[in-house]
Amino acid sequence: MSLTSYKGKTPQLAEGVYVHPSSVLVGDIEIGLHSSIWPLVAARGDVNIIRIGERTNVQDGSVLHVSRPTTKNPAGSPLVIGDDVTVGHKVMLHGCQLGNRILVGMGAIVMDDVIVEDDVIIGAGSLVPPGKRLESGYLYVGSPVKQARALNEAERSFLTQSAMNYVILKDEYLAEPLS
Ligand SMILES: CC(C)(COP(=O)(O)OP(=O)(O)OC[C@H]1O[C@@H](n2cnc3c(N)ncnc32)[C@H](O)[C@@H]1OP(=O)(O)O)[C@@H](O)C(=O)NCCC(=O)NCCS
Repeated sequence: MSLTSYKGKTPQLAEGVYVHPSSVLVGDIEIGLHSSIWPLVAARGDVNIIRIGERTNVQDGSVLHVSRPTTKNPAGSPLVIGDDVTVGHKVMLHGCQLGNRILVGMGAIVMDDVIVEDDVIIGAGSLVPPGKRLESGYLYVGSPVKQARALNEAERSFLTQSAMNYVILKDEYLAEPLS
């Protein structure tokens, strides 16, 4: 795998983390227990930090970046992702904050200073504009996203199930001789 230092900071991986060898992780990144990073993910923690929680999966081709501090926004926009989050294929996460048990659908774009509360589904191909807050317990779809409806019980349990499926999958990959 490609772990690149920037200004003395190297990505830190907790126990049981899987990172596919084709992915590129740069700078001030921390990834929590049993999370997984799938092929061709690019994550660049250079002008701000990236933090990824436990049992979270970031799927193929996703791009993770941050915004630098400015006089108007002295903290800049770090990227913080919670526990049991599924980030679908080819998602763009930029300087936003995601809580726990979230599904970010394939190809979605989540922009700076967005806050996604716990237990949210963002539909495939959606765009979440800068600074928007997505309320816990709802499905959001569209470009720009709109609140579509409350999640049902099956969808709520799927959020945790999806994360667990990826924990099992990454353990199978880690058991391969050339992981
Ligand atoms: C949004 C989503 C959860 C659909 O939920 P759903 O309620 O089962 O959707 P339905 O199939 O019943 O469609 C409801 C309506 O939303 C529309 N719709 C479905 N997905 C949509 C999306 N991503 N964006 C915009 N509209 C969408 C449907 O066309 C339908 O419109 P209509 O009522 O005018 O016919 C699903 O389509 C989705 O995007 N899932 C993400 C999957 C993913 O990316 N997983 C990660 C990789 S494994």
